[in-house]
Amino acid sequence: MPGTVVVGLQYGDEGKGKIIDSLADRADAVVRFQGGANAGHTVQVGDDLYAFHLLPSGVLRRRTMNLIAAGVVVEPGQLLKEIDDTRARGHPVTNLRISDRAHVVMPYHKILDGLEEKLKGNLAAGTTLRGIGPAFEDKVGRFGIRMCDLIDPDVLRAKLEKIVPIKQRVIDAFGGTDRLDVEAIFRDHVAYGERLAPFVTDTAAWLDAALKRKKRILFEGAQGTHLCIDHGLYPFGTSSDCVAGAASVGAGVGPRHLSDILGVAKAFTSRVGAGPFPTEQEGEIAEHLRERGGGEYGTTTHRPRRVGWLDLVMLRMSVRVNGLTGLAVTKLDVLAGLDRVKVAVGYRAGGSAVKEFPASMRILSTCEPVYREFRGWPEMSEAEWIATARKGRRALPEAARKYLAFIETSLKTPIRIASVGRSRAATIGR
Ligand code: GDP
Ligand code: IMO
Ligand code: MG
Repeated sequence: MPGTVVVGLQYGDEGKGKIIDSLADRADAVVRFQGGANAGHTVQVGDDLYAFHLLPSGVLRRRTMNLIAAGVVVEPGQLLKEIDDTRARGHPVTNLRISDRAHVVMPYHKILDGLEEKLKGNLAAGTTLRGIGPAFEDKVGRFGIRMCDLIDPDVLRAKLEKIVPIKQRVIDAFGGTDRLDVEAIFRDHVAYGERLAPFVTDTAAWLDAALKRKKRILFEGAQGTHLCIDHGLYPFGTSSDCVAGAASVGAGVGPRHLSDILGVAKAFTSRVGAGPFPTEQEGEIAEHLRERGGGEYGTTTHRPRRVGWLDLVMLRMSVRVNGLTGLAVTKLDVLAGLDRVKVAVGYRAGGSAVKEFPASMRILSTCEPVYREFRGWPEMSEAEWIATARKGRRALPEAARKYLAFIETSLKTPIRIASVGRSRAATIGR
């Protein structure tokens, strides 16, 4: 703080939601700056589990303001559902603001997401089908509808009358059978706009004023570095920039305000969706990684996540492109109970060492990990992990401490947070 960015270092689902929630009590604001409802961020409070897609993960902390900034694409029906669900569970959600410049995910974006995935065949990323790609395509192509349009019925109608017939032609050409109805879309979206209008404001101006008053701001990344449109697996990632620099662009604050960059990594690797995955495991190891500690199933799509060993080749790149100042390592508890734990320290392809994480999917798919093996650590109950967390890092089993120390040394970045369970209490260091 004052400007701390939290980003994912792998393929998303690293536990960013939990880490943001645990830092949010000391933050004046939490800001989502990219992505959309493709994100699924889990926060556990006591026995209550929350899965946020658009609401920033600080929303349960009443004194913390939560901003959805210009870089996010907002699906209004989904956001309203989240607001309603969270209110029904006793949280007022008055601590929310939405950028008037954020783009709106429209029903035709979700239709086109499905059609494009089908047409792409083996180039399909296995998207969340939340309309993210087509919404960002429209933003860049200047066909987009923004929040300031959504709350202005005259502008909304004029835009829909122009855009919807064009989208209908694209749907038809892509082999879709859906019929778009301008009147119905207008009616639904005017209603969404009326409900969301009280939250809509210039969030960048709000942030500027807050930063001038030395307020502490947490920037909440969605997805992960290797899903980033510029630096991630292409075309198997998402459609927005997920690296730390995107916080400046998406939130509309100068980069000098981003003083602290915290990267979140799982103690192993997981992903939902398609693409090469050098350290991927199947069989018993996969079963262990997927089923322990709450289960590796997509927070948004509930698909089983692909799982594998920790990959320091991809993490070295993540440290570099984000300019990390610190690491948070999650899910150490999930590795417990394995005899041996492996870490990829390098790759080999075609008989020679691969220095950097490759851009080419053809090369990446031929990369063989070079592993280093570690001794495992024993299983503990949730209560025992929490008791260990209270005592701090030194109380961790020796093998787990060695594992963390190796990660820290290899990545030349200090581990500031270690997470050993889903709950707030199962966290070491902040
Ligand atoms: P995000 O998208 O990065 O916020 O991560 P998700 O919420 O999609 O997925 C992370 C999952 O791991 C969630 O179910 C969390 O509750 C859970 N989780 C986070 N940290 C830990 C941890 O240290 N141990 C265990 N067992 N689960 C964790
Ligand atoms: P959080 O914020 C994990 C993946 C999808 C797919 C690809 C493109 O919870 O970490 P999209 O719907 O974005 O066009 O899908 O990216 N993906 C995620 N995987 N966590 C996420 O978000 C993801 N958001 C997108 O599975 O492979
Ligand atoms: Mg997630």
